[in-house]
Amino acid sequence: MQFRFSDSPPSHVRLHARVLNQEDMPSDLDQAVAEGARAARFKGSAGQVFETFSMKDGTLRRLALAGAGEADATLRRLNLEKAGAALAAKYLVSGESAMVLDLGHADLSGEEAAAALLGLRLRSWRLDTYRTKLPADKRPSLETVHVVGAPDGTHDAWAEAEAVARGVEFTRTLVTEPANRLYPESFVALCEKAFEGTGAELIVLDEEAMEKLGMGALLGVGQGSERASRILAIRWNGGRTGDRPSVFVGKGVTFDTGGISLKPPPGMEDMKWDMGGAGAVAGALLALAGRKAKANVIGVLGLVENMPDGKAQRPGDIVTTMSGQTVEVLNTDAEGRLVLCDALHWAQEEFDPARIVDLATLTGAMIIALGNEHGGMFANDDKLAGQLTCAGEGVGDRLWRLPLAPAYDKLIDSPIADMKNVGPREAGSITAAQFLQRFIRKGTPWAHLDIAGMVWSTKPGHTWDKGATGYGVRLIDRFVKENLE
Ligand code: BES
Ligand code: MN
Ligand code: ZN
Repeated sequence: MQFRFSDSPPSHVRLHARVLNQEDMPSDLDQAVAEGARAARFKGSAGQVFETFSMKDGTLRRLALAGAGEADATLRRLNLEKAGAALAAKYLVSGESAMVLDLGHADLSGEEAAAALLGLRLRSWRLDTYRTKLPADKRPSLETVHVVGAPDGTHDAWAEAEAVARGVEFTRTLVTEPANRLYPESFVALCEKAFEGTGAELIVLDEEAMEKLGMGALLGVGQGSERASRILAIRWNGGRTGDRPSVFVGKGVTFDTGGISLKPPPGMEDMKWDMGGAGAVAGALLALAGRKAKANVIGVLGLVENMPDGKAQRPGDIVTTMSGQTVEVLNTDAEGRLVLCDALHWAQEEFDPARIVDLATLTGAMIIALGNEHGGMFANDDKLAGQLTCAGEGVGDRLWRLPLAPAYDKLIDSPIADMKNVGPREAGSITAAQFLQRFIRKGTPWAHLDIAGMVWSTKPGHTWDKGATGYGVRLIDRFVKENLE
């Protein structure tokens, strides 16, 4: 999909779309169109689309009106994304190859116009590489969008938004690729390719290096897999030299069978997206590097595959983490925290971060608690929690904070080691967070985002089709923009 900005629409394009505010029907519409829209109860609410055909200057046009909601809405930009996304959903496989998009009727700023374009772009992403028999009329047809009536500043705002779109798309690709294609080493290879020429620096730890560092917990998870584990750090130094970096750590379990504590078959295929935290961090770094963000940010991805075989770790095994603390592995399916504890410890030792945020599809209990509307957040710092909540609201990657407390922490004490890797059934997401907190240095602001319910969607949402959502990329990007630049 590409956008072309012009003053007057090319005459050969049949499909014309206009973005309109709620209850604000333009006076230049011909009577039949205006009456048709009214009859169809088109009001211009966010994401509403009305389509008709209309004669203009002797040629028949396919005309679409897309609603952007109220002009003074608080989340105006999200509404504009919805307007753009609704057009993409309707016309992506319509057979039309081009669209004229008129943004001159909704009194937009450049950033608001770019939001409409972002919605259009994000909603038209899909991965068709494995469909060899898709009939022509089911294939995406829309290739070019001619943007007219764009307000001043749209160009610059779009340049930034496009970098973010690339990040989201990269994440969605990583999340969607199946685990026979995407495993720790191929994940690293895809990142090496994606970051080429961006100016970001990539640091890879192989198993030998991790062995030397004493990462017994992370390595224990990968022990039953034929695929070698990796840690990948992606460093973007866009800020002042000497400014301590902000570090984002992602859970990258490229497939989670549960290990010896094997998961039941139904739905196990979902565990290809158990690397959604790492995917979000990689996409966010790509966005930040792409728009040359003025901040020092590092992404650290813990990449492993959790498989059961003759070498796999057993329930009851005790592993020594890089921090020196020991863990009794009671359930090999609680593997995310084992990966993260070593990745978090290493990240703090190596980079001395000013703040650290991890993203992980950590617990099924999080989905039971919050469904698919909010990611769960746990934090030791109110300011950081507030900043993350606010960034999430602004881009539609919503978060809801849950508690940490010593009484929950006690639940993971082990009779034989420093801690066990699972607590009781109750408060499963909280005890997982407590586990991670035991690896956070005193005084370092930290937030843990349990995004198990947000990475994958079984139905289309406002800027995504069903499947990978790209959750987390825009959250991190906005957090950096609002607080670090
Ligand atoms: N990756 C899963 C959590 C998950 C489940 C994410 C469903 C997305 C959808 C995680 O590794 C896991 O298996 N967690 C266990 C923890 C339990 C053994 C304490 C769970 O949630 O059941
Ligand atoms: Mn698991
Ligand atoms: Zn998992």
